[in-house]
Amino acid sequence: MTKVKRLTENDVTPKAAYLNRRRFLAGGAALLGGATIGAEAWARPADWMLQQVKQEWPTTYRVDEAITPEYDATHYNNYYEFGTGKNDPVRNSQNFRTDPWSVQVSGACNNPGTYALEDLIKAKDLEERIYRFRCVEAWSMVIPWLGFPLADLIKRLDPTSDAKYVAFETLVDRDQFPNQRALRPAIPYPYIEGLRMDEAMNPLTLMAVGMYGETLPNQNGAPIRLVVPWKYGFKSIKAIVRIHFTNEEPPTTWSNAAPREYGFYANVNPTVDHPRWSQATERRLPTSFFNPNVIDTLMFNGYEEEVAHLYAGMDLRRFY
Ligand code: MTE
Repeated sequence: MTKVKRLTENDVTPKAAYLNRRRFLAGGAALLGGATIGAEAWARPADWMLQQVKQEWPTTYRVDEAITPEYDATHYNNYYEFGTGKNDPVRNSQNFRTDPWSVQVSGACNNPGTYALEDLIKAKDLEERIYRFRCVEAWSMVIPWLGFPLADLIKRLDPTSDAKYVAFETLVDRDQFPNQRALRPAIPYPYIEGLRMDEAMNPLTLMAVGMYGETLPNQNGAPIRLVVPWKYGFKSIKAIVRIHFTNEEPPTTWSNAAPREYGFYANVNPTVDHPRWSQATERRLPTSFFNPNVIDTLMFNGYEEEVAHLYAGMDLRRFY
């Protein structure tokens, strides 16, 4: 079952280096985050990828809030392919194979094709972004991601004027994903998501290949996932194998499953409640009985300045 590799000598140095960086950059917050770091190391993707992630990287965006302890970010996950419990992803994903990995690019672009992951990721392009991450279920974290702007990749793929949206797909592999071979899968697979082209090109939109100074743990979407910090977490699709440019709004997993509850846009919005619960506040993890740590949810998850213009004139109650 779970095959969690114990920390080795080799793992210690870079991780320690990361913590030093964090202390330097985030002061006290890093200490909070550091308390549980170092207890475990995950099954890792290929060496080449580790090498890419181990290089120096600049921190190009950060919020001045305590970074969520790595333990919480890696043990409280949504990844239905591995099961619907918050603990299922970490338990069931440790043998997931992320190498070799390729991403198929199709649709309205001049450079379609199948790209090996190593052709998409270069150390020099990696940057760290410390973002708030707000799930539609009203919990949130602050995560130091490592990745590169989706816009940079899209420019290389050279979309045509027909490309109004970009769609993403997660791997389908019944051997590796227990919920995909379940008698009654929790959701239809593949998991699919999409963005309007201007959202995809927004400088905040990140293709993440790491977090906490390491490659992504499998349960967090290794080897490559999307991070759209002003949208509910379900937009941030994991383990991407396909990118498709299209002129029509693509269907998405959760708006297909429950269209009244989850929309295509899914912008974090404290004034538009989910039909079954309020979105005005959120539980900032970790929480406990004595410290529920409930905070106000911010419009566009606090990224209003960067993204509000994308929705000027739109009725956000209708386009939720
Ligand atoms: N991607 C895939 N392929 N499958 C999923 O079930 N869950 C989404 C999103 N991406 C999901 C997914 C949801 S609901 C959330 S909140 C985030 O992943 C959770 O990311 P995290 O586990 O890294 O916090």
